[in-house]
Amino acid sequence: MSETIQPARPIVVVGSGHAGVGVAAGLRSRGWDGRVVLVDAEGQLPYERPPLSKDLLAPGAAAEPVPMRKEAWYAARRIERVHGTAVSVDRERRELTLDDGRVLPYAKLVLATGSTPRRLTVPGGDLDGVLLLKTLPDARRLAGELAPGRHVVVIGAGYIGLEVAAAAAKLGCSVTVLEFQDRVMSRVTSEPVSRFFEDVHRRAGVEFRFGAAVTAIEGTGSAGGVGQVEWVVTADGARHRADVVVAGIGVVPEQGLAAAAGLDVSDGVLVDAAGRTSDPDIYAAGDATRFASLYDGASQRLECIQNARAQAEAIAADVTGQAQPAAEVPWFWTVQHGVRLQTAGVRHPDDDVILRGAPATGKFTVVYLRDGRVAAVDTVGSLADFNAGKRLVAQRAALSPALAADPSIPLEQAVVSLEPAF
Ligand code: NAI
Repeated sequence: MSETIQPARPIVVVGSGHAGVGVAAGLRSRGWDGRVVLVDAEGQLPYERPPLSKDLLAPGAAAEPVPMRKEAWYAARRIERVHGTAVSVDRERRELTLDDGRVLPYAKLVLATGSTPRRLTVPGGDLDGVLLLKTLPDARRLAGELAPGRHVVVIGAGYIGLEVAAAAAKLGCSVTVLEFQDRVMSRVTSEPVSRFFEDVHRRAGVEFRFGAAVTAIEGTGSAGGVGQVEWVVTADGARHRADVVVAGIGVVPEQGLAAAAGLDVSDGVLVDAAGRTSDPDIYAAGDATRFASLYDGASQRLECIQNARAQAEAIAADVTGQAQPAAEVPWFWTVQHGVRLQTAGVRHPDDDVILRGAPATGKFTVVYLRDGRVAAVDTVGSLADFNAGKRLVAQRAALSPALAADPSIPLEQAVVSLEPAF
């Protein structure tokens, strides 16, 4: 890893997730010849996060990270990697300061600082064995806790909670999921998809408590020091036995640097379609950002790799003075008990829902219509519908609900009219 900071003003990127590495890659692929410095606090060859809640927790997994790129890739592109935590930005002097006092002047600064898991604020939330999952050390710690017969309590039935529940069940743990809402993945999907995945989990032995408000976590060592977790207590008075607790209760955008520097933030660093913040020399990309949806202008944060990469490309294009890349429809996926949910577009809770196919067959699609036009699709077992869905969202296709509900007819044949979004 390069620790030498050369004099010429580089483009400095803070954060080496998909957004940060994507900016560095995009600058080089677009012919940027100046220095590129990638600052990261983890001190690790940048790695893929999706396997942390899947393959790394699988039986017999080596708990080894999957690097995004090999070490030689960075060297070949003269991408300087600096291990450190950025603590402040001096916008006037265009300097970034790290926690060890190093100062990095920049020509342009890119904040790709990501998001941080929300912490449980209940009493006992700091007991040993109460875990979050975001980083490689988090995944390794969790992998070491999962073993046959262990009682695992998962708090939150979102992507993280459900992927962890699936992995723990597969490893022979006894798994209980406590979810505040009345169904799984309520933030991201509709009732039919939630019920389908709930059923997949139940068949693998996972238990659910919905409407569950955790009030306390209890453990040993109450006479001083941090003890080991033993019980999770919910508002209805129930006590859930726990050897390990995993909280997957959402994330908050990592916007502290931007806010302290006086950039516009509002539950995310505010950026335009080219990733520009309110300072012309500072960009932001990835989970940390909030921006207007290209589909309908709604203000949104998108926590997905596709968005991180797309914003990174937009920034690289802007810095190098090139045309903006074509807009993309956001997409997401999760795998639980070997069943893959693929989503294109961003659903709103009040969208009309068309169910296409029977969930009981293990192959079905849900189409979300907003003002009669396709805004998103959720697909299980149908790559054809996922691919068609992506196109139909981009085209803001109006569909015949009756034809769209018939899985024997290709989705595109249900189109009534198009009004391209991008
Ligand atoms: P999430 O927002 O997807 O789900 C959080 C869940 O926790 C929600 O169902 C919410 O109702 C529930 N919840 C919140 N507070 C609670 C409480 N006090 N008690 C009980 N339930 C509570 O967030 P999650 O699962 O933590 O994921 C974190 C991030 O990681 C997200 O950005 C997500 O997109 C990303 N991720 C994505 C994956 C994928 O795309 N496959 C996989 C894993 C993570």
